[in-house]
Amino acid sequence: MEEQKLRELFHRLSVHDKIAQTIQLNGDLFVESGVMNTGPAKDLGFQKEPNFYEIGSIYNVNDHQKLYQIQKDVLENSSHKIPLLFMSDIVYGFRTIFPMPLAQAGSYDFDLIQQAAEISAKESYLNGIHVVFSPMLDLVRDPRWGRVMESPGEDVYTSKEFAKRVVAGYQGEKADYLQENHVAACIKHFAAYGAPEGGREYQQVELSNQKLFNEYLQPYEAAVEANCELVMTAFNLLNGVPSTGNKWLNRDILRERFGFNGVLVSDYAAVQELVSHGFAKDEQDAAKKALEAGVDFDMMTAAYANALPELAKDQAFAELLDEAVWRILILKNKLGLFEQPFRGLTEPNTGEVLTDEAKEVATKLVEKSCVLLKNETALPLKKTKDQRIAVIGPYAESHFTLGFWASVSGRSSDVLTLKAGLLEQFGQDQLLFSRGFNLYEDYSSFGPLKAGFEQLNGPIEDEEFLLEQSLEQAKKADVILLTIGENFLESGEGASKTNLRLPEKQIRLIKKLAELKKPIVGLLYTGRPLVLTEVESYFDSLLLVWFPGVMGGRGICNLLVGEASPSARLTMTFPRSEGQIPIYSAQTSTGRPLGGNAHSERFVSKYIDETNEPLFSFGAGKSYADFEGTWQGVEEKADGIHCCYEIANQSEREAWVTPQIYLLNHPAEIVRPMKRLIATQHFLLAAKERKVVTFTLLEEEFAYFDNEGVRYLTSGNYTLQLDLLGIKNNQTFHLVKGE
Ligand code: GLC
Repeated sequence: MEEQKLRELFHRLSVHDKIAQTIQLNGDLFVESGVMNTGPAKDLGFQKEPNFYEIGSIYNVNDHQKLYQIQKDVLENSSHKIPLLFMSDIVYGFRTIFPMPLAQAGSYDFDLIQQAAEISAKESYLNGIHVVFSPMLDLVRDPRWGRVMESPGEDVYTSKEFAKRVVAGYQGEKADYLQENHVAACIKHFAAYGAPEGGREYQQVELSNQKLFNEYLQPYEAAVEANCELVMTAFNLLNGVPSTGNKWLNRDILRERFGFNGVLVSDYAAVQELVSHGFAKDEQDAAKKALEAGVDFDMMTAAYANALPELAKDQAFAELLDEAVWRILILKNKLGLFEQPFRGLTEPNTGEVLTDEAKEVATKLVEKSCVLLKNETALPLKKTKDQRIAVIGPYAESHFTLGFWASVSGRSSDVLTLKAGLLEQFGQDQLLFSRGFNLYEDYSSFGPLKAGFEQLNGPIEDEEFLLEQSLEQAKKADVILLTIGENFLESGEGASKTNLRLPEKQIRLIKKLAELKKPIVGLLYTGRPLVLTEVESYFDSLLLVWFPGVMGGRGICNLLVGEASPSARLTMTFPRSEGQIPIYSAQTSTGRPLGGNAHSERFVSKYIDETNEPLFSFGAGKSYADFEGTWQGVEEKADGIHCCYEIANQSEREAWVTPQIYLLNHPAEIVRPMKRLIATQHFLLAAKERKVVTFTLLEEEFAYFDNEGVRYLTSGNYTLQLDLLGIKNNQTFHLVKGE
């Protein structure tokens, strides 16, 4: 619709109509149960129940036939005839569920990540969704927090690249209108929700401004530069002010400094929760502060509905309300909803999901997201007919490998299990299965889903029986494939943990199996880094599969037999103990770095009961091939810093490889990290192939900010480190600012 016409429509709206447009509720208002509530489900407390056909948006209805009917009812029953906006928690796939984001990002195959986002967008579009609540871009450095699984991880560069590519995949290239097969991206959670005190869910966040400007805000800013259409506020306090009521954060930073002019939606009930925070004195005050902070949609509370009719009698608030509603109408117009309210719902292939192409991309992304943390001799597995493999552990036949945030639209029944993947590679007689241990203590917590869950996941069995059966199977095998880790409910929202070690029964099983002196290949299913210090040495090989999505079984087995080559790198540090947390790669030095103080062994930065080193570092990841790399040169030119290195595959097999380039620390007004990732590449090398790689770094990459947000870029010597699977080469060059 032409903007002029949209303005005319806007001016025809009553205050009542405008307030209704700012209300977003989940879909269970319009459909029977089955809509996933992601917060306390309670009576919302509308003083005057609105005509629900007149509200602005609903979310988490993912059935295209139901959405068609809802939109039809809205257009028939609303006075203003403004189409309803359909949003949903599509975080890493609609029905083709890809590996969780913490895994995907580790592929460093940003083209493939974008392709997966395009598939998620197309499936969402063909099922009537207009807006997806992702990518989540909260930087995470504390694995006690359960939501690390939906983040691209601890690193700024990785998260920025992930942000740009996922937004581009969802929305298509920058355009005034969102084309078919594309959806609007709602990035979240603004801001810094991933750094709660104690790693405890919803806890306060305290970060200096320089930490915000140099690290935590960067991924969101990258998404805004990629033209994301929406931002979702965060639950947490940021330096004493709740994000949802934070004018400095949402107006001065997000809208003024970053230039965001899209829609700001609160997180679930976050407007009302300004009262629980102790920031607003009551619901009216909460609505006032949220509107002043620029929040356009009030998700899942009645605060705006109850308070704005009175507030809007004041001219200043009437203008703030107009601002919010205008942005909402602009978004609906960009989606073409006024001309096509049944967007995506009237295509010949409406409802299409899980195409062969989608499953192929998902398989590739599994292959590129699994991190080979350790490999002595066991991988790749031999495929000789006499090879007998004991497949121990509950994940062999489990369908619950999608991860927490897939539950909104994904289906566990879609999963190609590890067993199915193994049967594509080996004969049935070569595989000896035992569940090893129960992954769920009982199914009672699944409530109404209990029966279906038990049917898909199998009954709870006696632990001692499972242990003995596992040992019997293992005795008959040449190699043991052991699945360990978390169940999918142990991570995601509301799942903070203080103990990151494996359960005792898993540790006992590992040690018992190790007594058989056969190679053990561990497959680690988890939504977060775990503390594996006690068990790591028992494994010959350890493949981190995270929660790999619908094609997990096939992708993992392609890696196990060497049909695919592991190239992923860790996106988040694995501590040796919880006591080291927060522990991450881009940490600063100290005035007394370990090994740096010649005068004393005591008075240096260390623990007396643990090393400073993690068990597995950010960037860790092995290959089936060996590489060497040497710098050919780094030189500043007018358009940036030209970098060149040569890399050689020294093995007899082709392999994907993910070189990483780190910037080492340099003197600065605000101390910079000892090392921070500044570039990566990802490509295939044939056996014995040598390749010269060139890339250009922009001067901008070397800048940083102080606590006032002032940007610094200084001339001087900088050192780049080429990291090839832990083999490091440094190259120093001189940068003259502004040349
Ligand atoms: C949740 C989450 C947010 C999600 C929203 C809607 O509590 O914090 O990520 O998009 O509510 O389900």
